Amino acid sequence: MIQLHNITKTYHRGKLPTPVLLGIDLKMEAGEFLSIMGPSGSGKSTLLHILGLLDRPSGGSYRLDGSEVSSISDDDLARLRNAKLGFVFQAFHLLPRANALANVLLPFTYAGQFPPDAQERARQALSRVGLEHRLHHRPGEMSGGECQRVALARALVNDPEVILADEPTGNLDQRSSLEVMSLLQGLNAEGRTILLVTHDNAVGCMARRVLRLVYGRVCSDEKVANPTQALQQLATLPPPGVQG
Ligand SMILES: Nc1ncnc2c1ncn2[C@@H]1O[C@H](COP(=O)(O)OP(=O)(O)O)[C@@H](O)[C@H]1O
Ligand SMILES: [Mg+2]
Repeated sequence: MIQLHNITKTYHRGKLPTPVLLGIDLKMEAGEFLSIMGPSGSGKSTLLHILGLLDRPSGGSYRLDGSEVSSISDDDLARLRNAKLGFVFQAFHLLPRANALANVLLPFTYAGQFPPDAQERARQALSRVGLEHRLHHRPGEMSGGECQRVALARALVNDPEVILADEPTGNLDQRSSLEVMSLLQGLNAEGRTILLVTHDNAVGCMARRVLRLVYGRVCSDEKVANPTQALQQLATLPPPGVQG
């Protein structure tokens, strides 16, 4: 489904070019769950943005479902992105004045096209992440974990084949992190492809495959023999509200 060959990225800001990705090769099948790990500045987000068609590589080839996408037009990129991909970011990126339902409807708002069942799909997506009781809450009235689940519901509303998440647990406590990871594992079990960036080893080992970057190069690419099950970890935590 995804094939990268010798992908490079150099940012040009100020006088000196900054090479960030130095030739990445990666092959992924549909239905995989990959975490991209590595120290801060190693190029994880840059790689995820390229994979998610939010940014273009400086060189190399990116084939998505067999088609070369590194050189297609911006409009075609946007169309592919909307049709296939859903995104989750560390900082949630929710509209503060809009309630959960309106936030999940945003992809339709931006696309300027409301399918007749848009509301129903948004409700279902919120229910999928366990927030059917928070439809009319605004971000300020929800916990960080709930906000991230709203963001995940928004990523799901278009029924994407691939979910890309950049440090989705970076702002969350342990319980909320496990809830989000458990949802991602469940979505993967349903057949969705998941691409996760994290610098947290415990989180990374919940994926089925770990790609490690150092200074813009792949330094290892390994299957996880027994991915940690977030749900089981969650069960070992004290009940919510109990200090421990
Ligand atoms: N838009 C940009 N312009 C210039 N440099 C950038 C830009 N985005 C990222 N960088 C630089 O690229 C390097 C890798 O960044 P990033 O991919 O965000 O790493 P990571 O996610 O692994 O922390 C960093 O040194 C960062 O400063
Ligand atoms: Mg990053």
